[in-house]
Amino acid sequence: MIIAIDGPEASGKGTIAKLIAQKYGLRHLDSGLLYRLTGVALIDQDFADDAAFKQAAIASAQQITATDLDNPPAQARTMAGGVMASKVAVIPQVRDILTSIQQNIAKQKPGAVIDGRDIGTIVFPNAEFKFWVTASLKTRASRRLAEYTAKGKSDTLADVTAAIEERDHRDSSRAAAPMKKATDAHLIDTSKLSIDGVVEAMSAYIDAKLA
Ligand code: C5P
Repeated sequence: MIIAIDGPEASGKGTIAKLIAQKYGLRHLDSGLLYRLTGVALIDQDFADDAAFKQAAIASAQQITATDLDNPPAQARTMAGGVMASKVAVIPQVRDILTSIQQNIAKQKPGAVIDGRDIGTIVFPNAEFKFWVTASLKTRASRRLAEYTAKGKSDTLADVTAAIEERDHRDSSRAAAPMKKATDAHLIDTSKLSIDGVVEAMSAYIDAKLA
């Protein structure tokens, strides 16, 4: 069974995906982490031009294996890690490599809950369940700020809002597998829902379809 959960940054999809995976006894696959791992290797490097960057990104993606997901470096979860992830994510060859990894992991029994940007559209267009999880920009920025503050970072709400807008724009405007709602995805707006509320809404949808 494949449950695809797509949506923009800080929509809550990762937390929800983990809980839904636990509830239904499925593996949780955070596809964004594959892009982050690919990007993190490039953060402190200088590139002569776009072609050199592209080449390094493809080489980095080729090094990634499923086991790298188990022990990601702390930098992968930072704002810089997210920005670099979205830069390597525009490269079609990187996407092809990471899409195959996702398909190989998720096809192992008993299946998976995968969160990302293109799961319901490209990676698993025939997923049994598809969700588009979103929230207002204000809600998403406040959530990210709280996370960064808890980690001792000093970003402001304005910094975080601008970074989210920039990443949303890059993710939704790229030519290769842009972030978008699959036409048959069930929309859940998490702005005014608790985590438990989202899990309940999602489970009700899944259980009704399984019945
Ligand atoms: O979900 P997360 O914020 O970790 O994703 C980091 C970046 O990886 C996204 O902004 C996006 O550019 C890219 N990504 C993607 N396709 C996915 C998952 C993530 O392009 N399925």
